Amino acid sequence: MENIKSYVEENKERFINELVDLLKIPSISADTAYNQDVLNTADAVKESLEKAGCDKVEICETPGYPIVYAEKMIDENLPTVLVYGHYDVQPADPIELWDSPPFEPVIKKTELHPEGAIFARGACDDKGQMYMHVKAFEYMIQNDNLPCNVKFMIEGEEEIGSPSLGWFIERNQEKLKNDVILISDTGMISNEQPSITTGLRGLSYVEVEVTGPNRDLHSGLYGGAVANPINILNKMIASLHDENNHITIPGFYDKVIELSDEERAEMAKAPFSLENYKNALDIKDVYGETSYTTNERNSIRPTLDVNGMWGGYIGEGAKTVIPSKAFAKISMRLVPDQDPEEITQLFMDHFIKIAPEAVTVKVTPHHGGKAYVTPIDNIGYMAANKAYTQSFGVSAIPQRSGGSIPIVALFEEVLKSKSILMGFGLDSDAIHSPNEHYGVFNYLKGIETIPLFYKYYTELFKVEN
Ligand code: BES
Ligand code: MN
Ligand code: MN
Repeated sequence: MENIKSYVEENKERFINELVDLLKIPSISADTAYNQDVLNTADAVKESLEKAGCDKVEICETPGYPIVYAEKMIDENLPTVLVYGHYDVQPADPIELWDSPPFEPVIKKTELHPEGAIFARGACDDKGQMYMHVKAFEYMIQNDNLPCNVKFMIEGEEEIGSPSLGWFIERNQEKLKNDVILISDTGMISNEQPSITTGLRGLSYVEVEVTGPNRDLHSGLYGGAVANPINILNKMIASLHDENNHITIPGFYDKVIELSDEERAEMAKAPFSLENYKNALDIKDVYGETSYTTNERNSIRPTLDVNGMWGGYIGEGAKTVIPSKAFAKISMRLVPDQDPEEITQLFMDHFIKIAPEAVTVKVTPHHGGKAYVTPIDNIGYMAANKAYTQSFGVSAIPQRSGGSIPIVALFEEVLKSKSILMGFGLDSDAIHSPNEHYGVFNYLKGIETIPLFYKYYTELFKVEN
């Protein structure tokens, strides 16, 4: 593996160009207008896995977008690593806030990425991170040092809640059999301090509709006498947090696992500057649940946030109207052991209960998923840590993330294996936002670190078995 550095150095232009080509395809799974682009991206991923040296590469049809599956089986006595990633991306809007078009990648230097970063939708989440695995695999094949079996499962619906992936893994348990699942779709603390994500939050996502009168009304003739659904919806939403920013839905916290003081003290050791955090976001202060630190609020505590809200007149000028309807999209991030279906039900019951007689409320659940926490005393984590230690020169810190990859909990339930989250992105990479980017350093360092994981994992596996 000593030559991995030189292989990356010799091939870096090509590695970057190949990723740039992949980023040019707007694989937005949420928007049906991009249907063909999503399908084309699946084909491009398939082709890249063939070229990299996989034996069996397939486009697997599902009720939704296809899953790209590939494998290289060298010896059934050796362990099998299943790589998971996604080739779909978030919508690019608000498009006017991008400094360069989201699907025309450019490389620019930034303060945190002095070696340059690739700016494009999906650069970090997850095309860039997924493609590191294809290139790391290419290296192992080219240099004859693939130490174990590999399977790839790259889906095209992660950003819409993986509606077909559960269906796929239920039906393909034998094909997907593995010893460990390897995922690069999270972040790390900084380019100097790698971390391994040991937890993801779960998710419960609902849409609410509040209806007042049966039509829009003149706000002079009816104003004051009829419930305005926007006013009411705002009141209802505001009541979902108390003065300590606790969520007021009865039963919401019942199953939340509280961390011990020791665990919290351990968490607090991770390097973090509140000043930098505030400066990066141009905020004078942070905001959240009393008695918890910023890093606790955004990882080990559940949340409730409005993601969007609409209704009434939003065009130019003024229109005096009491709208008939108001809407909101609300997401709740969950922690162990909250159950997404239970939480959705608690939300529904509560939201309907607090609505005044003057309106009717409809709650529609969207996707959801359970939180995931992985222990650090397993060979997957140990191998990842050895890999980071060798390539970064410092040991990685275990860190629970606030984001969600809902399918990871299902992997454990159905495939019975642990997921190791080796993410190389930074929180400041603006995933899901305008000007998403991925550091060239991070991309190449990822390609360099992944083969080391394979090496150490196989070594530790042999000792354990
Ligand atoms: N890759 C992200 C999740 C992520 C990012 C986890 C950074 C940890 C650190 C994933 O693509 C994502 O965006 N997930 C969604 C949920 C999904 C159901 C749309 C999320 O977290 O909002
Ligand atoms: Mn992702
Ligand atoms: Mn995402």
